[in-house]
Amino acid sequence: MLKFALVGCGRISRKHVSVLQEIEQASLVAVCDIIEQRAKATAEPLGIPYYTDYHRMLKREKIDVVNILTPSGLHGRHVLDIVEYGLQIVVEKPIALTLEDADRMIEACDRTGVKLFVVKQNRYNLAVQQLKKALDKGRFGKLVLGTVRVRWCRDQAYYDQDAWRGTWALDGGVLTNQASHHIDLLEWCMGEVGSVFAMTATRLVDIEVEDTGVALLKFTSGALGIIEATNATRPKDLEGSISILGEHGAVEIAGFAVNEIRTWQFDHEDGQDKDIWTRYNQNPPDVYGFGHKLFLEDVIRSINSNTRGLVDGFEGRKSLELINAIYESVESGREVRLKFRPEHCRLGRETFNQRKSTS
Ligand SMILES: NC(=O)c1ccc[n+]([C@@H]2O[C@H](COP(=O)([O-])OP(=O)(O)OC[C@H]3O[C@@H](n4cnc5c(N)ncnc54)[C@H](O)[C@@H]3O)[C@@H](O)[C@H]2O)c1
Repeated sequence: MLKFALVGCGRISRKHVSVLQEIEQASLVAVCDIIEQRAKATAEPLGIPYYTDYHRMLKREKIDVVNILTPSGLHGRHVLDIVEYGLQIVVEKPIALTLEDADRMIEACDRTGVKLFVVKQNRYNLAVQQLKKALDKGRFGKLVLGTVRVRWCRDQAYYDQDAWRGTWALDGGVLTNQASHHIDLLEWCMGEVGSVFAMTATRLVDIEVEDTGVALLKFTSGALGIIEATNATRPKDLEGSISILGEHGAVEIAGFAVNEIRTWQFDHEDGQDKDIWTRYNQNPPDVYGFGHKLFLEDVIRSINSNTRGLVDGFEGRKSLELINAIYESVESGREVRLKFRPEHCRLGRETFNQRKSTS
């Protein structure tokens, strides 16, 4: 049984609380939020202690794993603090906003022997796992084109609910926040990215960052990729999808959160195809999907067996590097070749302008 604690009791904490209650090998023992009423509202129904200072919580409670669920631009600072307690760390996506933060986090976890897990729950979607299996078996042959599409709805009220949302300093736009899952999936499936050219726009809300973005990718394999992401779909969420096209087959997985198989076709049948539509096809009720439970079960397995998690710091850093390259391309108006040193990318670098009244 591993003892978990949460740092951050906002929107995504509800998912962590419900999933940790479902997992037999996990128990949630304490929570913390700088907003006392959020911490209290999370802890009281569970009969566990709550804190407004994570140092106090970590000094007082017996904890094995800390889930960091704070605004994205604070992940670096919070991981670097908490790593010194020697506890295992789960951090919500994205790992951080700057590559320097991600590198410091990875280095500190290595130095202290702490495992760092970055939440990329869509990798655990049943349909996505089958897609990855088909790729690893070489069923696609030569890869041609990979596309991810995020057509979600986030209105002004969503951005106005917390001061950090929609800022360069602490959040980033649709590409960093919502599409970071899909960008991660695209790289996981298609391999290393060689270069990217991107454009963004802010169409329907008043925020510092983009609500819409498109990017063209060239993978080092020679295959091409497209990222299409918008929070300006109205009046409600439409789709989160990936499609992979290769010499011998094509797969599309869509639904709200990359769970629903739309196309599964190969020129050679395989035992894998038999129950693909019946066993691996599901569309969740919301964009969070089903993957958090499988993700956290894998975290527990990895800690108990002392093996590497599927999305450790290095894996989590890859999509962050591509997102930084996308913004570098937007700001410079040029195709950006990876590896690169960000010069123009504003993500995580602007000063936080607290123009809204809430936290
Ligand atoms: N995996 C997913 O699908 C998914 C979905 C939503 C959000 N997220 C990620 O989760 C993170 C949080 O998002 P959210 O929507 O829950 O935000 P939120 O604003 O609703 O919650 C963040 C909470 O962190 C608290 N906090 C800030 N500093 C703190 C500190 N020093 N100590 C303790 N608490 C502190 C805030 O008071 C707030 O309650 C973001 O990085 C976001 O990208 C992931």
